[in-house]
Amino acid sequence: MSPPLLAVRGLRTVFPTSRGRLAAADGIDFEIASGEALGVVGESGSGKSVTFLSVLGLVRPPGRIEAGEIRFDGRDLRDLAPAALRRMRGAAMALAMQDALSALNPALTIGTQLTETLAAHAIPGDARAEAVRLLARVGIPDAGRRLGDYPHQFSGGMRQRAMIAIALAARPRLLVADEPTTALDVTIRAQVLDLLDELRAEAQLAVAMITHDLAVVAERCPRVLVMYAGQVVETGPTAEVIAAPRHPYTRGLMQSLPQLEDPDRPLYPIPGQVPDLAAVDAGCRFRNRCALALPACANPIALAPVGPGRASRCIRAADVVP
Ligand SMILES: Nc1ncnc2c1ncn2[C@@H]1O[C@H](COP(=O)(O)OP(=O)(O)O)[C@@H](O)[C@H]1O
Ligand SMILES: [Mg+2]
Repeated sequence: MSPPLLAVRGLRTVFPTSRGRLAAADGIDFEIASGEALGVVGESGSGKSVTFLSVLGLVRPPGRIEAGEIRFDGRDLRDLAPAALRRMRGAAMALAMQDALSALNPALTIGTQLTETLAAHAIPGDARAEAVRLLARVGIPDAGRRLGDYPHQFSGGMRQRAMIAIALAARPRLLVADEPTTALDVTIRAQVLDLLDELRAEAQLAVAMITHDLAVVAERCPRVLVMYAGQVVETGPTAEVIAAPRHPYTRGLMQSLPQLEDPDRPLYPIPGQVPDLAAVDAGCRFRNRCALALPACANPIALAPVGPGRASRCIRAADVVP
């Protein structure tokens, strides 16, 4: 088997706060293969964005990566000098995020931002034609004419798509999609997700899809990573994880989110709150919200195999009923 495109081991990213240091990512392990789509789910504040900002080298001081390995194509990105990491970001790895306004430069036309990205990464061919092709591929009608528009002349959904086009312009091998389709209407969202599926098949693009939308994960991501309070609590093939979760948090998350096949199903929010990361102990971070918790859950619990390709950070993994 070829090595994964991205392998993260023991990642720990910390931030100083007024209440003390907190580890927003704490012992994160996962891999993504070329051409794979990995869904990343978890309530707000579970460390999804921090984990992938760490991978991209975008954690801002005083936040810092304190421990772990981030291997991309076999090289540990933590060994790279800042300039080398910057070159790699954008060329090999790109980020598309929820907030397109802050990702785009308000002073430059969409066309200029696309052609500058193409030039910066030495993409061969006619830059204007390629820019039109990219905009058209993310579903922007009349793409040739829209190249001359500034971001404020685009609707919110079009800005979102333009940002995705810019992220894809350098032909990255890994795209981190941090809820970039949340603001799009259903049809356009499907179109953007179809494009990512095509690029996975054609160009072996790997996609980390951070989303609140379980339907997107179920339909588009063969494998899923479930995060809670800065840790991975469960991972495995998406269909299996949904059909038979092996962590009480995953089960709660499934019941708390709307599902496409059954939008009228009642929703059961998980009672309680994500713990204060500045005050967590070594035990299971979900135990105060968990119906299955035992005294032993106060001990450190590792992410452990629970079947082929599956792992759970729960001593009662076998007792979780779907
Ligand atoms: N710049 C920061 N300074 C201090 N704490 C931060 C910072 N960024 C993130 N955090 C902490 O990390 C937690 C996880 O954040 P994040 O990765 O953005 O969550 P998610 O993307 O899963 O919603 C937040 O709840 C917050 O406590
Ligand atoms: Mg986030």
